[in-house]
Amino acid sequence: MALPPGPSPGRRAAEPPSDVHGRPFRSLRISVTDRCNMRCRYCMPEDEYVWLPRGSILTFEEIDRLAGIFAGLGVTKLRLTGGEPLLRHDLPELVKLLAGRAGIDELALTTNGILLGESAASLRAAGLTRVTISLDTLRPERMEAFARSKRHADVIAGLRAARAAGFTGIKLNTVVIRGFNDDELEPLIEFGRAEGCEVRFIEYMDVGGANGWRPEDVVSRREILDRLGRRYGAISERPDGAGGSAPADRFALPDGTVFGIIASTTEPFCRSCDRGRLTADGHFLLCLYAERGLDLLTPLRAGAGDAELTELLGDAWAAREDRGAEDRARLADRGALYQLQALRADPRKEMHTRGG
Ligand code: GTP
Ligand code: 5AD
Ligand code: SF4
Repeated sequence: MALPPGPSPGRRAAEPPSDVHGRPFRSLRISVTDRCNMRCRYCMPEDEYVWLPRGSILTFEEIDRLAGIFAGLGVTKLRLTGGEPLLRHDLPELVKLLAGRAGIDELALTTNGILLGESAASLRAAGLTRVTISLDTLRPERMEAFARSKRHADVIAGLRAARAAGFTGIKLNTVVIRGFNDDELEPLIEFGRAEGCEVRFIEYMDVGGANGWRPEDVVSRREILDRLGRRYGAISERPDGAGGSAPADRFALPDGTVFGIIASTTEPFCRSCDRGRLTADGHFLLCLYAERGLDLLTPLRAGAGDAELTELLGDAWAAREDRGAEDRARLADRGALYQLQALRADPRKEMHTRGG
């Protein structure tokens, strides 16, 4: 008699696990590199970083194999991140592998856009479904001062190349920081409207630690809505935004222009969080704020089979209690998450290592 088949890549487990709070596992952010060609002050403010050892970076074949196992646990949405994911050579090759995975409905990329001009068409041809581009300012001199990059024009060219390649539903991510770009809300909304892209304002988060995050630097969702309401008139909330598992709440201006707000800091959405994260060196994180991850690299390279990895990951998700952003929001005296010493001792605590 034939034995029942064991879990295999792309095959859904009979009952994908929910976590302790009943949250299913649907979405995985895959960081493909910890390197970046920008130095945004809220993310990578320092001159020197401890990089993940090269030999520990997952190969495309390893990522693809893990993606199959994640799909078997219920994941339908993959998002490639970094650092800057387009610094990973031949990224369209990985996209092609992942796009072919059964069970994956959405395969997205979050990029700073600098290198998108040269790769947008091949990413689209390889099967990428969506692109999100970080754009914190429309002023090149601000970007140079804030993110130490002179390549603002390349970001805009990257966005236009993505449109020309046929990507639709492109989103622009803007982290709003008081005294840096909070005077650009309106120009950014208007730029998004002109380019056919949805702008999402992100509250500055106290992740990592070297950025010296302070509560007074955060421009809250409430404040953003008040400002835009005064400028444009009554803003309506779109029912498709709030309450779902996506981090952004969506709104419309009176003329119909849609924008989003990601209020991770003042109104966290942990109760509906369905995402896990995979670092470039194969550590699985249950939360953006998780202290440490589950090492998948060691069993993977020691020859663990799919069934063993499925069990490891399924058990980890089933035991998941994390509500990191809500825990942070409850703190009376909130400052940077980590001290520099802790970050240098463990680069996996950095935002650029855990995929934004
Ligand atoms: P879509 O909803 O599919 O467009 O993707 P996304 O918004 O999840 O991805 P994106 O890379 O654009 O992330 C935007 C921002 O959401 C990040 O910069 C974070 O500020 C926030 N974010 C993403 N993942 C998490 C998370 O797990 N927890 C919290 N608190 N915030 C997150
Ligand atoms: N607060 C909010 N968003 C951040 N990102 C990086 N660091 C922070 C932070 N401290 C965002 C980037 C990018 C996404 C992947 O993560 O702007 O849009
Ligand atoms: Fe690079 Fe993104 Fe971090 Fe900016 S936010 S330094 S673009 S990884």
